Amino acid sequence: MPPLRMLITAGPTREPLDPVRFLSNRSSGRMGYALAEAARAAGHRVTLISGPVVLEVPRGVRRLSVETAEEMRRVVLREAKRADLVVMAAAVADYRPVRVAPRKMKKGAAQQVLRLERTPDILAELGRRRRPSQILAGFAAETDHLLLHARAKLRAKNLDFIVANRVGRSDAGFESPNNRATLLDRAGGTRRFPLMTKKQLARRLLAAILSATD
Ligand code: CTP
Repeated sequence: MPPLRMLITAGPTREPLDPVRFLSNRSSGRMGYALAEAARAAGHRVTLISGPVVLEVPRGVRRLSVETAEEMRRVVLREAKRADLVVMAAAVADYRPVRVAPRKMKKGAAQQVLRLERTPDILAELGRRRRPSQILAGFAAETDHLLLHARAKLRAKNLDFIVANRVGRSDAGFESPNNRATLLDRAGGTRRFPLMTKKQLARRLLAAILSATD
């Protein structure tokens, strides 16, 4: 297979509240980094767009670091124009504070209400703009009705593939070195991958995606 230009996103985003506080999530970035490493090892050209994580850049991978969902959107949309395959493994925040305080917020009342607004759905935007030859894959992190929700996201965001994985358990998913997943495709196909390391899972997911799109 000739080398493909791959764009992979990883990690959480951070949505600032004030200069010292932010809203974020438990994504470690390991799954996205493992995918980038596997893609590079298979000879592809990889750009990794990463939220704040503590992982090292895999050798030979071009990493672009971002912080907020809006920054990730800007960089992803720019880089996606040149990509043959995009895999959105990042856990993008769905909401951000409406107002970012310019100075550290001081404590006062016994209760506080935080007003949040939606962030852009980057993957849905990619799904609307995609070139016919571009392959688009997303992740679905779910605590319940895993396959039902994942299939709905695949359709709604106009994807070729979605990797459904259960979160909120201690043996797999967020913050764990291991994961299990089900790969769903557009045609209704499903492939289950049992519990294994994220590095192993990344290699197998990538191989399955690439062999289905030959
Ligand atoms: N995603 C995105 N932009 C967002 C939110 C999610 O690009 N603002 C992408 C994620 O990278 C992932 C996919 O969409 O590939 C699904 O993310 P997930 O958090 O599972 O679902 P949401 O679409 O956010 O829906 P919900 O939170 O209602 O489950």
